Amino acid sequence: MTNGNLYMAIDVGTTKVCTLIAQVSPDGELEIIGTGVEPSRGMKKGLVVEIDEMKQAVVNSVAQASEGIERDLPGACIGVTGAHIISVHTSATLPNLNGDPNKVITRAEMDRVIQLSHPKVNAGQELIHVIPQNYIVDNVGGVRNPVGLKGHQLTVESHAVIGEATSFDNVVRSVENSQLQVKSMVLEPLASAEAVLSAEEKETGVVLVDIGGGTADLAIFIGGAMVHTAVIPVGGFQFTNDLVISLGIPYEEADKAKVAQGHAIPDEVEPDEMVAVKGYDEELPHMVRARDISRILNDRTDELLRLVLMKVKESGLRVMPPAGVTFTGGGANLRGLEELARDMFPGPVRIAQPKDILGLPEELKSPTYSTSIGILLWGIHHPTEQIAYRGINDNGSNGKGRRWLQWLAQFIGAARN
Ligand SMILES: Nc1ncnc2c1ncn2[C@@H]1O[C@H](COP(=O)(O)OP(=O)(O)OP(=O)(O)O)[C@@H](O)[C@H]1O
Ligand SMILES: [Mg+2]
Repeated sequence: MTNGNLYMAIDVGTTKVCTLIAQVSPDGELEIIGTGVEPSRGMKKGLVVEIDEMKQAVVNSVAQASEGIERDLPGACIGVTGAHIISVHTSATLPNLNGDPNKVITRAEMDRVIQLSHPKVNAGQELIHVIPQNYIVDNVGGVRNPVGLKGHQLTVESHAVIGEATSFDNVVRSVENSQLQVKSMVLEPLASAEAVLSAEEKETGVVLVDIGGGTADLAIFIGGAMVHTAVIPVGGFQFTNDLVISLGIPYEEADKAKVAQGHAIPDEVEPDEMVAVKGYDEELPHMVRARDISRILNDRTDELLRLVLMKVKESGLRVMPPAGVTFTGGGANLRGLEELARDMFPGPVRIAQPKDILGLPEELKSPTYSTSIGILLWGIHHPTEQIAYRGINDNGSNGKGRRWLQWLAQFIGAARN
């Protein structure tokens, strides 16, 4: 049945683990051939806190996805996020390439200048992406691809993404076992962007906000490249937890009420609408006013949108990019979010679900699965055979054994797609 190249993505999230297996046929057709979604319990705010529980959720999700696939599973592409992740701008210059008046910039020179732009990271940190945004050739800026241009001096301005090595290692350890290897990792909002943004939006300028269970991840694209990333430690968990605390109800009940009847705008809820929730004592269900739920959700949504605005300002942008703000992730399903966001942000606002892919089951065509599908697409569009994730050293240290960056030159340009 399956004869194309196989790819696997594992989205290890705060609320769910989603595994996708796809094949790309010899003529380039992409088809999803296996999906597995399993609740996850071992993660908080994008960080693995219970490795054994997480391992079990990953094993179950991969088992579901690989049912009926009688081939060896490929290495997985995984997503990473967390408040420890920071992004920095860097630049580097290769001067006086040579005196030949017809000197043309080569691929090797482009790779070298990118390599020079890698920022130094402290012990315990790991560089996961270096994305060139702009090249300057002999003082002429705005160059997308300098290879083949005449010039004697080449500068690159890059966007680098750095995080705590131990946090990345914990995600990797929760996935790897004797049968499963991690091949590459991608920053989650960069993956989500792959699944929901058009090339035109990235070119014009857009802010992508992925509201997950534990964090809201933000990525800003301008001129076709990612220029800023930020992670806000507020996700669906905090929305639900507010209901738990304010209404004195169990977490699962609060989450159900939020998903089924939650609305971020109290005035849009009928004043007499009631929601039945089970209390801690299951014998005693009680009725809660839907408007009270909505008021609580409204406060948290307002806070989150303000934090998004703050992060956009911190990125150095004075105005919102022209294509506005696109929300995705499970939290973006909250009714009323789009309307509140329209009041808060100038310009377009949209809630995005992932692009359709052959074989994608109906239930996965939702903002909840944007990151999962994005991780898969990233793994396919940015082939990483060269990175060969080498895992954690026997002595538990990271660093030397891993060389993600050797392959960066391979996807330069691809990051701009
Ligand atoms: N209709 C809805 N209204 C409000 N919230 C919703 C709705 N549907 C799902 N959610 C929330 O979305 C969150 C899960 O989103 P998602 O699946 O994107 O998170 P995750 O990938 O598991 O977490 P993370 O990426 O933060 O690690 C949960 O908190 C859930 O309550
Ligand atoms: Mg997620």
